[in-house]
Amino acid sequence: MKKETQLIAAGRSKKYTQGVVNPVLQRASTVVFDSVAEFKEAAKNRGNRALFYGRRGTNTHFALQEAIAELEGGAGCALYPSGAAAIANTLLSFVKAGDHILMMDTAYEPTRDFCDKVLSGLGVSTTYYDPMIGAGISELIQDNTRVLFMESPGSITMEVQDVPALVKVAKDHGLITMLDNTYGNGLQFRPLDHGVDISIQAATKYIVGHSDVMMGVSVANEQHWPTLREQSYLLGQCCSADDAYMALRGLRTMAVRLAQHEQAALTVANWISKHPLVDHVRHPALPTCPGHEHFKRDFHGSNGLFSVVMKEGNQAALDALVEALHHFKMGFSWGGYESLITTGLTMAPLRSVTGWAHGPIIRLHIGLENVDDLIEDLSQGLDVYAKVCAQA
Ligand SMILES: Cc1ncc(COP(=O)(O)O)c(C=O)c1O
Repeated sequence: MKKETQLIAAGRSKKYTQGVVNPVLQRASTVVFDSVAEFKEAAKNRGNRALFYGRRGTNTHFALQEAIAELEGGAGCALYPSGAAAIANTLLSFVKAGDHILMMDTAYEPTRDFCDKVLSGLGVSTTYYDPMIGAGISELIQDNTRVLFMESPGSITMEVQDVPALVKVAKDHGLITMLDNTYGNGLQFRPLDHGVDISIQAATKYIVGHSDVMMGVSVANEQHWPTLREQSYLLGQCCSADDAYMALRGLRTMAVRLAQHEQAALTVANWISKHPLVDHVRHPALPTCPGHEHFKRDFHGSNGLFSVVMKEGNQAALDALVEALHHFKMGFSWGGYESLITTGLTMAPLRSVTGWAHGPIIRLHIGLENVDDLIEDLSQGLDVYAKVCAQA
């Protein structure tokens, strides 16, 4: 079955849909049983999609979990109330006091904060590594290293990691590997196919696709699914049936949305790369993006997210650009149908071991608007940027 077909078919067994197209919306805390035998049977199978108690999911959740596990090629999928919760709880599920983890320097900022502000307090230490380190990661492994965490491409600066090389070293040292696959979304990159143990996504982005639900998902392979499943329950993680329903609805159209995001983003990226104010574009599908060769080898496509590195600039120019744009709204997140711009509150991205020796960086999310309108908008916004730079 091709991926697009799988997206339509997954999680739609009659058990969940009861004969209509979409799964039933089953809201529940309490599940009631007709007999002690039925209760005991449910208790026995509660880890395997049997109705037992609302926190462990209803048929709406089970349909979504089944679909996402299939999309990512894993043994099971845990649901969380946000992407940040998925990252934090997946890490917590596999570390204990005294352990050490390896985290790339280009991690999503709240992931970094979780390591520095929560894990450190629990006695788990973190070493940040250059996302382009590849097999050189072996030099950073300690006796107590437990987890190698990846995010590819990296947040804001978009470095595409050499996942197979990193995974090989991790496996040789018995580490658990996790990857924030929010960009790769399961259609464009499947970490488990490359030997990663656990793939995490902020479903808030492309899965939901409409900027109206927060959700995180974590998909593990056979070896790690039992631990991830039990730990997510022990940590009390769950989401509402309504949100699960919305995520499943988003999933059905993800392939067509992504195709449009991809085409429009490539058009904008190619146009903006030739703009006189632009130093280079960090779009994984373009050769100017660090790790482009890994992207070409491992990914099945790109989407609406990329960054632009300016030759020069200052905070006033960045602010003026954002203010001048009409179609690009200023806001966090990405993966919805709308175009967004993030210039950062400071001039350089937060990095501790790799530094940043370039001009200001602007991240764009190209939405589903007509691409000509987007280019026109950016063009007039960059004229304003140039004027403010000239005044400095
Ligand atoms: C790469 C990445 N991972 C995780 C998250 C966190 O997701 P959420 O906002 O659902 O907590 C984000 C959000 O921007 C993200 O960009």
